Amino acid sequence: MSGCLWPEPPLVLPSLANSIHIWCAWLDRPDHSMSDLRRTLSPDEKERAERFRFERDRWRFLVRRGMLRLILSRYAGLEPAQLLFAYSSYGKPTLAFPAGSKLYWQNDPEARPYVLKFNLSHSQSLALYAITADQEIGVDVEALRSDFEVETVARRFFSRREQAELSSLPAGQQQAAFFLCWTRKEAYIKAHGLGLSLPLEQFDVAFSPGEDARLLATRPDAEEAERWDLMHLAPAPGYVGAVAVQAPAQQLHCWQV
Ligand SMILES: CC(C)(COP(=O)(O)OP(=O)(O)OC[C@H]1O[C@@H](n2cnc3c(N)ncnc32)[C@H](O)[C@@H]1OP(=O)(O)O)[C@@H](O)C(=O)NCCC(=O)NCCS
Repeated sequence: MSGCLWPEPPLVLPSLANSIHIWCAWLDRPDHSMSDLRRTLSPDEKERAERFRFERDRWRFLVRRGMLRLILSRYAGLEPAQLLFAYSSYGKPTLAFPAGSKLYWQNDPEARPYVLKFNLSHSQSLALYAITADQEIGVDVEALRSDFEVETVARRFFSRREQAELSSLPAGQQQAAFFLCWTRKEAYIKAHGLGLSLPLEQFDVAFSPGEDARLLATRPDAEEAERWDLMHLAPAPGYVGAVAVQAPAQQLHCWQV
């Protein structure tokens, strides 16, 4: 059963030359529908899966990596098992094969070579995958929760401006606003790929009700804010997400798989 709100993809995907593709996958699927997908994983992915203590987490990992391979194979024109991943020193995955060689978009009459960029995120039963041509990208999704004190967590992770903004909101809006801020910050960090070595207090994101997702300020380089675009994602009831991409942002297409 899928809780994703987005439609199934068209048979022929729009060109990546002028669009960003976001895919949503429900991870709690029955075994029998996933056994082929499982076989596409590499030995190191299977080894990672074995390290999970709980069967449910192991299963979700296998499904989300299998889905990653399935989705990327549509762009690469290869079988899912043929894809090879490499990881930066901060853990961000890239395609090692096919990669150095540029890919061509098969269905585009004006096909041009491009490097396939992607990022993924998961929370509870849901995974999001963001795909672009050439532009660095980061995506984050979170299941909405209410079992923690937002102001305490915000003091640790948000910039001063963001903390002030959050405190100024009516109490009833703070929990939802917290997750908008969190996912936007996380998507930006993931687009850079530097993990928490990119200090969280060095940039501010917009997250108040009615405000579009965007970078408000970056420090010490103020122009950095102009180099990235942020977009809000609403993939399923109870989940919120964000994608950060090198400007200029292209048209966003969202599907479920
Ligand atoms: C990986 C990281 C960037 C995000 O982890 P997370 O939020 O727990 O997990 P997500 O599901 O969103 O993302 C995990 C995926 O991101 C990718 N990833 C790993 N390292 C990454 C990096 N440095 N940059 C971008 N993507 C990365 C991987 O594909 C990973 O999936 P995998 O486990 O299947 O390989 C984590 O290292 C991190 O730095 N988290 C910061 C958390 C935080 O304090 N955020 C504050 C926000 S206000």
